[in-house]
Amino acid sequence: MDTVTFTLGAGEVLLDRLLEDGIAVTHECGGKLACSTCQVVVRQGMEHLSAISEDELDMLDRASADAPGTRLACQAVSDGGEVVVALPESTVPARAAGFSPIQLSESATAYLGAQIARLPGAVALRLGVEPAGCSGFRYRVDHADEIRQGDTVFESGRVRIAVDALSLPYVQGTRIDLVREGLAQRLRYENPNVRQTCGCGESFGV
Ligand code: FES
Repeated sequence: MDTVTFTLGAGEVLLDRLLEDGIAVTHECGGKLACSTCQVVVRQGMEHLSAISEDELDMLDRASADAPGTRLACQAVSDGGEVVVALPESTVPARAAGFSPIQLSESATAYLGAQIARLPGAVALRLGVEPAGCSGFRYRVDHADEIRQGDTVFESGRVRIAVDALSLPYVQGTRIDLVREGLAQRLRYENPNVRQTCGCGESFGV
């Protein structure tokens, strides 16, 4: 299992720190202690985390999570200090393959997060590319009803972003911002993989 080492600040929640660092730990209930999907194993530094509560223990019992040091990351609040955390297998493929995280600006997080929240059954934002335009590709942004096999899931500002395997090399490391142009607003992509863009701004080449 991969491990990461953090120095957490006082009052910092372990799940928040993992997500901020681009480690896509699943957290289906949004930190409400109702799902047990945010399990991690704390290898060192447990003394810097809040004591495990009866409710957290109960949730771990129900999930048969009995490895020593297992915590629900959303419930572990630091008093300040270094912790070493073994990452869930589901977070490893993107890291192991060396893909850079996809990040949303604050305004893009608010805008896209609200769109996803409005759609019943949506579990993530789906970002991809498709052939188009004069330069080769254009972005495709949609909601995802499911995480498909082969998807890599990133997390930014608590918005999950699913990317299919074919699109991933073209969008890894992209930062998405929401910009205003007069009365309109549009998404702007800062994509380190882009080598050329066309005059219409609709497509890009790599
Ligand atoms: Fe559901 Fe932590 S996110 S219990």
